[in-house]
Amino acid sequence: MSDGRKTIVVGVTGGIAAYKTCELVRALVRDGYRVKVVMTEAATRFVSPLTFRTLSAEPVTVSMWADEPDAKIHHISLAEEADLMVIAPCTANVIAKIAHGRADDMLTTTALATEAPLVIAPAMNVHMWRKDVTQRNVAVLRSRGAVVIDPTHGELACGDVGEGRLASVESIVEAVAAEAVRVRDLMGKHVLVTAGGTHEPIDPVRYIGNHSSGKTGFAVAEEAARRGARVFLVTGPSHLPDPFGCEVVRVQTALQMRAAVLARADAADVIVMSAAVADFRPATASSDKIKKTDAPAQITLERNPDILSELGARNGGAVLVGFAAETSEVEENAKAKLEAKCCDLIVANDVSDPVLGFGTDENRVLLVTRDAVERLDVLPKAAIAREILDRAVRLLEER
Ligand code: C5P
Repeated sequence: MSDGRKTIVVGVTGGIAAYKTCELVRALVRDGYRVKVVMTEAATRFVSPLTFRTLSAEPVTVSMWADEPDAKIHHISLAEEADLMVIAPCTANVIAKIAHGRADDMLTTTALATEAPLVIAPAMNVHMWRKDVTQRNVAVLRSRGAVVIDPTHGELACGDVGEGRLASVESIVEAVAAEAVRVRDLMGKHVLVTAGGTHEPIDPVRYIGNHSSGKTGFAVAEEAARRGARVFLVTGPSHLPDPFGCEVVRVQTALQMRAAVLARADAADVIVMSAAVADFRPATASSDKIKKTDAPAQITLERNPDILSELGARNGGAVLVGFAAETSEVEENAKAKLEAKCCDLIVANDVSDPVLGFGTDENRVLLVTRDAVERLDVLPKAAIAREILDRAVRLLEER
């Protein structure tokens, strides 16, 4: 079996989108993977196993009780063979079963038994997708490290319009490729990440804050964990759920963030400071809610400590990555920040562009080190996280 090809187990469940999995199997075979298809009984109502057998040139498994007496096939043989398992389409029912650890057919048994990465592309009726219970099950799968490719919006086979269509074959192939080549180059390393903005209290209900969503920092933390690192994520208030495999400390203020960061900085091999820390805080925060009639004409502000500068000055030995949100002269300002804060890498972006940056899923950044300036294309934040960690690993190796 070791001809150098990776084995992708493709799980097919019982939805009309199963016909699109034929294209997925073709694309994966064309890209050089060995593809082994496992189907639920319901999936065989939509596409015949013979179709997948022909496209993959491999046997297709449906039942756990195959009557061919082949000693090598047993209930977890596919799980052991898999370098990656992708389930497309994945119904609400199978999502629920996997989220709860059920294993009552060959597909769910394989999903439970395998230690390979799992990619799931759900497809279903919009109401089934939106149900709390489905969303909770999806969140459970994500929290365990599965990559879930959200269904897209459009006309559904049942006539409804909404999200529920299987993601495009190209995006599934892309996710499979990214997972299949994921390197474990941060194994044994400690990575400390800051994310989000901080909230600086004026009184118990009001604060000074900013638009940072935390998306970039969370993506860096999750990617570092997938690459084998022990990850501490210190984040300001963010609606995002804890990323897979990270130890998360949620703070409110810059002072709390500083304390949480300094407690973990010495152990870190890589520190990525993506948080948009408030530069100022109200000098005094009222312990009671300020009444409308008592509103002060002015709020006196005090400087917050610059956590990144402090780490740079300590020169603790970790690869130090800072961020620079600029509205003009992005490259010059990033270079100046690299020097001033003693960083190894500055990730700079132009926040004057209203379409990119805060809260969006994509961004265009400049990576500035002492030796080079690299201008990346507009990329999803997960891809930017990969690029940042690629550079950080390289800088770590040069130490
Ligand atoms: O100086 P400026 O705020 O533009 O620098 C941004 C970088 O410094 C980011 O990496 C941010 O996380 C970090 N920073 C910090 N503490 C502050 C302000 C910014 O760590 N008080």
